[in-house]
Amino acid sequence: MSLDLDLLFREQAENANEIYERNVNAKLAKALRIIGFDNTYVKAKGAHLWDNKGRKYLDMLAGYGVFNVGRNHPGVRKVLIDFMEGDFCSLVQMETPLLCGLMGQELKKRAGFNLDKVYFCSTGAEGNETAIKFARRTTGRSRIIYASSAFHGLTSGALALNGSTVFREKFGTLIDTVKVPFGDLAALEIELKKGDIAAFFIEPIQGKGVNIAPAGYLAAASKLCHANGALFVADEVQTGVGRTGKFLALHHEPGVEPDMIVLSKALSGGFVPVGAVLMTQRIHDAVFSSLDNAVVHSSTFGKSNFAMAAGLATLNVIDEDKLVQNAEAMGNLLGQKLQALMPRFEFMKEVRWRGLMLAVEFAKPQSLKLCTAWTAVHALNADLFCQAITMPLLQDHAILTQVAGNHMTTIKLIPPLVIDESDVDWFVGAFETVMTGLHKFPGPAWDSLTRIAKNALA
Ligand SMILES: Cc1ncc(COP(=O)(O)O)c(C=O)c1O
Repeated sequence: MSLDLDLLFREQAENANEIYERNVNAKLAKALRIIGFDNTYVKAKGAHLWDNKGRKYLDMLAGYGVFNVGRNHPGVRKVLIDFMEGDFCSLVQMETPLLCGLMGQELKKRAGFNLDKVYFCSTGAEGNETAIKFARRTTGRSRIIYASSAFHGLTSGALALNGSTVFREKFGTLIDTVKVPFGDLAALEIELKKGDIAAFFIEPIQGKGVNIAPAGYLAAASKLCHANGALFVADEVQTGVGRTGKFLALHHEPGVEPDMIVLSKALSGGFVPVGAVLMTQRIHDAVFSSLDNAVVHSSTFGKSNFAMAAGLATLNVIDEDKLVQNAEAMGNLLGQKLQALMPRFEFMKEVRWRGLMLAVEFAKPQSLKLCTAWTAVHALNADLFCQAITMPLLQDHAILTQVAGNHMTTIKLIPPLVIDESDVDWFVGAFETVMTGLHKFPGPAWDSLTRIAKNALA
């Protein structure tokens, strides 16, 4: 008898947090419980989730930016069901899979920039590992430059490009890298001039903090890299595939000249892990330099026809449903509506966005009472203030959001690109109510925050 998924969920959904705590990651299970994020979701469609009690949620997190086409998109699902029911094959390995070649062709067409070959892998971190190796092999140099607050994944090579000590510390000696401030061309040039740099890795919009590269920075940085014999690598794992209102975030920047672009996350509609590294012919030739070297870099699941079928279906859905255009329109609507709230709420410092990658940043307010509340909460825990927003958004308004990074006073919104005006209104109405509560001190919003901080400390 085959596994009955319905039955599993019906009988055990209630205990999911406890089962996970026992068998997978106890600290994560507990942290989620403390902040009330321990729901079990059992159904998903588009930009919405349902928990095991039947409550409907608005998903402003999209699985960390995986579900650009929305969850369970029928156009992608049908192709995958057809694939399985048609007994197609995958991972023959000693072949040149058709769907892989076609997916490479589609990506090259959409990306442009004279990038000539595509290497396929399974995750964003693996894409960046690939780009690190390829940059070193192409240039014969080993050091890599990354930006403050950067996040390129958590495998050993990618970790050496991570801008946060929380992730890096106590994992031993990493490969030779150097950090420069995000957006600082002068600092970048000083490092490049040392002559030992293989590549500069950069996210056009940083996932941690939603920091948008200043206009002209990416183009100038790519030119500086080339003038100094280094490669320019754009990590578009989160910003790619329509997220920012263009297919790539680099398409917002005239004159940029990438040598490699790393994609993953949304590339296969969220059903199958997939990553891709687009590169110039020169890089491809340096790595795959002879017949003996034809598989000098590869991974078992990298070019699976199943993932490629999902990828081709996803690109098709993005075109047919005009999701890039919707990302731009809904991003502007949401961003402008949130910006319009700023004069009423002194905690709000900035709303910034490009397409459907948005941030609301908070800062210490002017008025004495609120300033006291802010200082007291920060003294308890640097991460707590944003939880005062994400927690009631989830518990009282059924909206899933996240804090933009460790010790940041910014919340981040990366919903599926399928959201419509009613979803925007749902979010803005809820956010306004939460802000109104937080601007009353003393008040219930602050009481519950203090309680949570004490629970966590205990
Ligand atoms: C910009 C960026 N690069 C790389 C990664 C790592 O991707 P993965 O988690 O698939 O390894 C992420 C993940 O969040 C990311 O946002």
